[in-house]
Amino acid sequence: MSQKSKIQKFEPFSLPFFKITIGNWKTRKAQLLELVNWNDPECQFVDHFTDFHKNVQTSDRRAPYTAKFIEILKPELASFAKKVEGNIHLTGLWAQRYQLMQHMEPHTHGSKGYSAVLYAEMEEGHEPTVFWAPYQDPIAAGDLIHRPYAKEGDMILFPSMLIHYASNNLTQANRTIFSFNCDVQPSQKSAQLSRPSGNLNFLQK
Ligand SMILES: [Fe+2]
Repeated sequence: MSQKSKIQKFEPFSLPFFKITIGNWKTRKAQLLELVNWNDPECQFVDHFTDFHKNVQTSDRRAPYTAKFIEILKPELASFAKKVEGNIHLTGLWAQRYQLMQHMEPHTHGSKGYSAVLYAEMEEGHEPTVFWAPYQDPIAAGDLIHRPYAKEGDMILFPSMLIHYASNNLTQANRTIFSFNCDVQPSQKSAQLSRPSGNLNFLQK
């Protein structure tokens, strides 16, 4: 047996993000943008367009186009369910559009589950969502910031509890996103640490 001391690095906590690059994007983009009335006066705010507030007032708390959204993105949502080895259920869905100098303040989407941001209109000069780690860098003692690389047609899925924000749109082009929250219920097999496959329960209430 060696008498030498040794040091090992290990990382006990994991905070996985997922990125889905949506195939057949041109068609899907047109289908998605058609879902929303972008001129709805009830959705125009100083900082940005959002139908979030209008949607949460409905009995379903989700956008009226939720079923169509799920239909358009069924393969991608299924691939996420499979990756997290659980059943997923969308609990909220909304759309936001940022014009010149519009932004979104730092916020979270609650304490559990995953949330998504789908970049439906993203041009040169637009910055993806900025995320803060829920702890500080133990060496530098500063905030840990994550700016994922994302382009139009990408969907980032992240733990809902992370603080994040959208910086000012510095361009004349619209920066448009869809966002949703989802509960993830580990499948029975997953709970037993075997190899499960994800399921879709999107429309279940
Ligand atoms: Fe958000």
